[in-house]
Amino acid sequence: SVKYRDISKTKYKGNPEFKLFQYKGFKFISTVHEKEYLDSLENFEIRDTDILAVTYPKSGTIWMQYILALMYYGNDVNGPDGKLTIDVAPWIESEMESLNYNERPSPRVFVSHLPHYLVPKGLRKGRGKVIYLSRNPKDVAVSFYHFHNYSKTLENQNSFDEFFDKFLTGEVFCSSWFDHVKGWFNNSNDFDILFLTYEDMVKDLRTEIMKISKFLGRNCDDRKIDEMVQKCTFQNMKNNKNANYQLLQESFLDHSKGKFLRKGKVGDWKNYFTEEQNETFDKVYQEQMKDCPIELIWDIS
Ligand code: A3P
Repeated sequence: SVKYRDISKTKYKGNPEFKLFQYKGFKFISTVHEKEYLDSLENFEIRDTDILAVTYPKSGTIWMQYILALMYYGNDVNGPDGKLTIDVAPWIESEMESLNYNERPSPRVFVSHLPHYLVPKGLRKGRGKVIYLSRNPKDVAVSFYHFHNYSKTLENQNSFDEFFDKFLTGEVFCSSWFDHVKGWFNNSNDFDILFLTYEDMVKDLRTEIMKISKFLGRNCDDRKIDEMVQKCTFQNMKNNKNANYQLLQESFLDHSKGKFLRKGKVGDWKNYFTEEQNETFDKVYQEQMKDCPIELIWDIS
């Protein structure tokens, strides 16, 4: 299994070293990301066959990661000797000790939380393909809140109230949700890109997987699509140790405190937002998204 930078000796919580750091206007995690490596990403060599699945955190990244792993590496990622999805479709912005990205055979699948302006510039020249997956930011906020207490690389949060303000002002890992989404939508002409939403995937996974297959030119047949749909249901994925991140090093995740596949629902925000928070959120949303070229339709009320 792939080894990420050994961070096991760092005491994250309360350690002065453990903090978010700003790099070119975007917040990264000091114990996970490195400035020097991020510097090198601009010239990371992109191949025509590369695929990059991009999300703001908690928008269904590892779901997309598993779908793409199945689509590209098939049964290789399943079964008792299967591989972790994180190993076959790794994070482009995290350097790994044991995996030389440049030596990986094509086609290569990567996942990423990067904003549009920090991805390798080869992608902007029409090389490679990008899938951008977004989710109702209210559900993202709730999922992200829980994730802070589960992840050892993010600061524990005392209450949803406190986290709510940080999320709205972008004082979190990956900065503002609004900037991330707008950035990718406003600059979509620079990329060969497919936009999808978490909600559409929950509603009709088959149709969305078919869109992905078509966009990537995979021409998956009905049987393959059926198999992917089945493997990627919330419950089946939750029980799949190669896909559910339960095997990720304890130095990243406190497995006693949560699960990556937490609820998998649309609209969980209604269990957390007060009426006042909801009004505030809607106001900020309208203001922030008014210059977004595409109207994103979520059941935000
Ligand atoms: P919840 O916390 O709302 O349950 P990310 O991978 O970007 O961190 O996103 C994690 C969110 O995606 C979690 O949301 C998780 O449950 C959800 N998710 C992951 N796999 C899923 C699946 N197969 N079906 C539905 N939701 C899924």
